[in-house]
Amino acid sequence: MTDQNILQEVKDHILYITINREHKLNALNKATLAELAEAIAHATGNDEVRGVLITGAGEKAFVAGADISEFSNYNVAEGEALARAGQNTVFDAIENCPKPVIAAINGFALGGGLELAMACHIRIASDNAKLGLPEVSLGLIPGYGGTQRLTQLVGKGKAIEMITTADMITAAEAEKIGLVNYTVPQAGLVAKAEELLNKIKLRAPLAIASAIKAVNASLLYDVDGFDAEIKEFGKCFGTLDFKEGTTAFLEKRKPVFIGK
Ligand code: COA
Repeated sequence: MTDQNILQEVKDHILYITINREHKLNALNKATLAELAEAIAHATGNDEVRGVLITGAGEKAFVAGADISEFSNYNVAEGEALARAGQNTVFDAIENCPKPVIAAINGFALGGGLELAMACHIRIASDNAKLGLPEVSLGLIPGYGGTQRLTQLVGKGKAIEMITTADMITAAEAEKIGLVNYTVPQAGLVAKAEELLNKIKLRAPLAIASAIKAVNASLLYDVDGFDAEIKEFGKCFGTLDFKEGTTAFLEKRKPVFIGK
């Protein structure tokens, strides 16, 4: 597939994805979601990629939501299918990606845009960003995991307030309630994300993947997270990176991890 709606580039083992529909405030239409799904699948399976940074083109919007023009005449079955397909191929795929995925929120993150950011493992917002789930003002509710992930991130009371009022909040408020990890000036947004990814890149890749899996397990109703942690912990002992990490410590040198 030739990407038209996202830009992709791998630099220093980081996959940079830019949602590139600036004229529509980077709203997620089906083609964009399909390209995103392909990019995340590639990042998941490709050893060259050690981390992913997702942002939006321009200085106004990260993503202003799902593309409203595409589903305004959908029926019940089509609405459900839209949410299910999106969740499976993009939003859950990002959350389950074994490489850390950081959202660099460079402006409006609304509806599906905030849901995209919340599916990422870490969120950094520029100080002009506005975040919200305005779906009830369209007669909808969030359908790309927003009711679940917002509740997990900020708690039930604040989630219900944000979803039912449809209000946008500022980046500073989002940081205060734990919805974003950091708020930075827009000019420093990508650099802050790179700072974190570059630090994570120094660590053992298979241990990072195990950590993401174990943390995600804490939020699954049908999996015992403690047991998932025990299994992932055990798996680490079978890696060359574990031998390298412990040997390097004992030899008082920096480890060189190979992801094996
Ligand atoms: N779906 C489709 N198109 C969208 C969109 C969306 N979610 N968000 C913005 N756009 C389009 C606008 O229709 C407009 O297109 P046009 O120039 O062809 O008319 C363009 O992007 C620019 O948006 P505009 O509304 O003119 O910018 P603004 O600065 O006046 O307002 C927002 C910015 C974000 C407040 C406003 O665009 C908005 O409310 N968007 C929808 C947010 C939403 O409800 N998201 C949840 C969807 S489920």
